Amino acid sequence: MTLAQIPLAGVIGHPIAHSKSPRLHGHWLKRYGIAGHYIPMDIASSDLPHVLNILPKAGFKGVNVTIPHKEAVLDIADVISDRAALIGAANTLTFQSDGKLHADNTDGIGFIANLKQNAPDWDPNSGPALVLGAGGAARAIVAALLHERVPNILLANRTRARADALKAHFGARVSVIDWSQAAGHLAEITTLINTTSLGMQGKEELKLPLDHLTDKTLVTDIVYTPLTTALLAGAHAKGCTVVDGLGMLLHQAVPGFERWFGQTPTVDEDLRHVMLR
Ligand code: ATR
Repeated sequence: MTLAQIPLAGVIGHPIAHSKSPRLHGHWLKRYGIAGHYIPMDIASSDLPHVLNILPKAGFKGVNVTIPHKEAVLDIADVISDRAALIGAANTLTFQSDGKLHADNTDGIGFIANLKQNAPDWDPNSGPALVLGAGGAARAIVAALLHERVPNILLANRTRARADALKAHFGARVSVIDWSQAAGHLAEITTLINTTSLGMQGKEELKLPLDHLTDKTLVTDIVYTPLTTALLAGAHAKGCTVVDGLGMLLHQAVPGFERWFGQTPTVDEDLRHVMLR
């Protein structure tokens, strides 16, 4: 095989050292015996257009995109998937064979695939969902929940204006509640999602009294360090089905790997162990 045939992919961000994507894709490349490489690249915002122009010429099939470039790449892309347009950000770019740059956002499908794999009895249609947070992750998750036909979504964020902006974007099935009132709504919901960084190692705890939470509610967290957050431990103690956030990271990577390396990768226990090492 000549060098030109070796498929390349990677992740661009600034900074990039913290990214877990190289380990994830590296594991799959090894598992499927693919002679490709997945490379972390620290790219300044001012270099973004130039880099995205050069990478396909250097043998790259595509890249993941992380902070701070997830929104900016939409201005550079030639083709934008409906869900990336709806979310207003992309995390997966593909350099198409016709020379066009395709931008997609797989965070929402990663979120849903994680729940379907780990809580197969979860029925999105069974009742309202409560989403904590209104940042980029919340945007992808709200879009995905609406797509899965969750009847309505309660949205609570410390900065209420950001929740109002999301409501304005997504419409009638989303209603904003006050951050301080979230605990009072727990009895009404069948899905609870923490999309904030609260509860992450080194951050503040999420202080949400769970007295009104019932065991009919599926509870999930996008935080995966620690794997079992205080929210998930508290919900588990109340008899709820709980799903940790690691699977969302793993599943959001599937479409990119498939497009770039031509193999649909599996998310399994083996992969979880590799990522937790
Ligand atoms: P991401 O793109 O990962 O969602 P983000 O856009 O910075 O990141 O959003 C982080 C979320 O965590 C926001 O909902 C943020 O609330 P604000 O909009 O009020 O900033 C929430 N968050 C972070 N620290 C928080 C804290 N100490 N208390 C409450 N919410 C917090």
